[in-house]
Amino acid sequence: MRAELDIDWEEEPIEGAEALLQKTVQCCAEAEGLAENVYAQVRMTDNEGIRQINREYRQIDRATDVLSFPSADCHPDDTLGNCPGKLRQERDETGRCFLGDIMISLPKAREQAEEYGHSLQRELAYLTAHALFHLMGYDHMREEDKERMRAMEEKALNKAGVGRVTDEELIQIAREAMRFSYSPYSHFKVGAALLAKDGRVFRGCNVENASYGVSNCAERTALFKAVSEGAREFTAIAIATEKAMAWPCGICRQALYEFAPELRVIVACGDQKEEALLSQLIPHGFGPAEGMLNILGKE
Ligand code: THU
Repeated sequence: MRAELDIDWEEEPIEGAEALLQKTVQCCAEAEGLAENVYAQVRMTDNEGIRQINREYRQIDRATDVLSFPSADCHPDDTLGNCPGKLRQERDETGRCFLGDIMISLPKAREQAEEYGHSLQRELAYLTAHALFHLMGYDHMREEDKERMRAMEEKALNKAGVGRVTDEELIQIAREAMRFSYSPYSHFKVGAALLAKDGRVFRGCNVENASYGVSNCAERTALFKAVSEGAREFTAIAIATEKAMAWPCGICRQALYEFAPELRVIVACGDQKEEALLSQLIPHGFGPAEGMLNILGKE
């Protein structure tokens, strides 16, 4: 089963969004258990565009974040996965069944991403998943339907790698990373889990070396993995140890400060847990703005 989106960008496409949204729709359709190849059409528009459609089809004269128009007539008690006959109503020339139309206001998505403190790509994935479950019959009018819809969204978004990660989950991921620690010299195992703004989590462990100075801390392992995969914005890091609580060393503080001076740093050992902002751990820090001064001065 393949699930796809045909996306019509009315402004410059948002970098990295296309791949993430295609992955999201595949995860939504799998979560619902669809068996046929399906697609939905998405129009990425502005506030005026979505307001017009609201006015025309819903008699609501204002801009909203997202709209969906299902092609099959489903409802919360009988969603699309339960009634596959309804899927086959319309097919395109390649045999894909049409789920319906989605419309998203990019300015609204930007506002909401800002409000929730996550990336625009991640907000677009949330809105797309929400709309897609509407297309498959889900709704949030009754409390029990709302819960079911939220659970499906969460399941699909987690699978797409953009689910919400709690501090406890981040600590758990750091603990798992700690198991791979290569520390035959210090016997001090450290694991780190770095949460990127787009929802991805990068893990790392300390990797020691017979030439001691070559050793790398867990935090920098996670950071370098993240940056080399295209992530540059981060919201939190969890650091797990088993012997004693470990705040990041000076070098790691500086390495992280380059990308996220306001990073939340959570350290955990056994049932102990503490938290601080990186800007508290490295006051009067030297960051990219200062690093650039030198270059600018020479021009
Ligand atoms: N270490 C880390 O990985 N992170 C820290 O925050 C502190 C220290 C590692 C480096 C070395 O492998 C071992 O712990 C002992 O210093």
